[in-house]
Amino acid sequence: MKRFRRCILALGMLAAPAWAQLSVTVDTTRPGAAIHKDVYGQFAEHLGSGVYGGMWVGTSSKIPNVRGWRKDVMGALRDLHVPLVRWPGGCFADEYHWREGIGPRERRPVRVNTNWGGVEESNAVGTHEFFDLVEQIGADAYVNGNLGSGSVQEMSEWLEYMTSDSKSSLAQLRRKNGRDKPFKLAYFAVGNEAWGCGGQMRPEHYTNLYRNTAAFLKAPPHLKPGIIASGGTSNGEDTKWTDLLSKDAPEGTVGISFHHYTLPTGDWKRKGAATGFPEEEWISTLARTLEMENYIKRNVAVLDRNDPQKKIGLFVDEWGTWYDVEEGSNPGFLYQQNTLRDAVVAALNFNLFHAHAERVRMTNIAQMVNVLQAMILTDKDRMLLTPTYHAFRMYVPFQGAVSLAATVERDQPYVLGASSVPGLSVSAARARDGKVHVAMVNPHPREARQVDLQVIGQQASRAVGQVLTAEAMDAHNSFRQPQAVTPQPYRASASEGKLRLTLPAKSVLVVALEP
Ligand code: AHR
Repeated sequence: MKRFRRCILALGMLAAPAWAQLSVTVDTTRPGAAIHKDVYGQFAEHLGSGVYGGMWVGTSSKIPNVRGWRKDVMGALRDLHVPLVRWPGGCFADEYHWREGIGPRERRPVRVNTNWGGVEESNAVGTHEFFDLVEQIGADAYVNGNLGSGSVQEMSEWLEYMTSDSKSSLAQLRRKNGRDKPFKLAYFAVGNEAWGCGGQMRPEHYTNLYRNTAAFLKAPPHLKPGIIASGGTSNGEDTKWTDLLSKDAPEGTVGISFHHYTLPTGDWKRKGAATGFPEEEWISTLARTLEMENYIKRNVAVLDRNDPQKKIGLFVDEWGTWYDVEEGSNPGFLYQQNTLRDAVVAALNFNLFHAHAERVRMTNIAQMVNVLQAMILTDKDRMLLTPTYHAFRMYVPFQGAVSLAATVERDQPYVLGASSVPGLSVSAARARDGKVHVAMVNPHPREARQVDLQVIGQQASRAVGQVLTAEAMDAHNSFRQPQAVTPQPYRASASEGKLRLTLPAKSVLVVALEP
């Protein structure tokens, strides 16, 4: 009780004097599409200290590890219920040759990571190490094949190596390298960003190569991964790729990928800082991230035309914030601080993905550790959880939940200068535990929101969960203050039949409804 009072007190102190009153209706009698667990997928590329140092320290490191993977980070990822990990890139994937990453580590060739800082790539993390990682954290595996500088044969043999239960030479080689049974591979993608670092291709050329490659990606039926075509991006022509790839797509195609990064300024040369930004860049970041919905709608419209049976998903397999790198860090390592703004960005995107759950069946935030919008930052043997980590953790009940209709009435947009975003973002779903969960985001950095919550089809007299907020727009966790931004318990009870929730300024709230 004492703790609860402290929490309400804290919220009162954080709330600005200004309030906006809204009402939200959740209709539990109108279930929508299931939210696939893989909507909460993550991306781990051989980039900066994303894999080496941040997760992999090697078996002889003083940093406690299990077969080379650091224990602290693995524990935090397990707690996060990461459902899926995409590896090894990104741009790195189209220069990666899988045979260089198997067998005794000391004999693997050293290459140059030409995409990311020109550093040496030891190939210490290869296929077996990657599957050990996902098995340690309880996630599914998504492997991205090399189309750009690789070949159809290389991809088809990699698939055989990973999935064959036969006595073929490749399956025997896998056994010799320590793995008897086939690996469980959920997805395999043919190249990455084929329009850019993956080969500067035109959509027509890639579509032909994709169709040809897919024909040779063979595996025993019960072990065959879903095949993913590399699609467009919000940087350029985004629907042409979806259109060509979804017309008469080869058997086994489960998704077409799409990438959308959020830059505060929209300018790749001066993207904007991760901390110490003005309110103009708070709102521009939120407005730009919400553009995701237009891209989803446009691509889904194309899929609805070409694939009315809805066999193909739109997989947003890279998304997140991209800022100017931290001063003094290697520009090729994409290391950035992560603030409350990132948590709000993440939650706004989750709510959008839920709203389009029928087609958006997988997404991967870029990236998992130390790169771009990371869950975890490390410094030698230290580790901290970012506000984005906390947002992902709060939304765990939405993995595999069934979305419910949720509408906002009397919305009062948050406006600054010429920029405007909706005043409240809401999503509701019935989770696997049978409970209705409601998530809300108040994007306004100075005004609290008071929300009257109506629930149709079910008694709701209490809302119990967590709220994430802070005093400053750029509040973040540092190695000195690793707990500066952490979720606080939240509880509201109905009075005279009304359930009223108070959302502090710039906050993310996730509650379960109780009768
Ligand atoms: O996530 C960083 C890079 O962004 C990826 O390697 C690439 O696919 C995208 O351009």
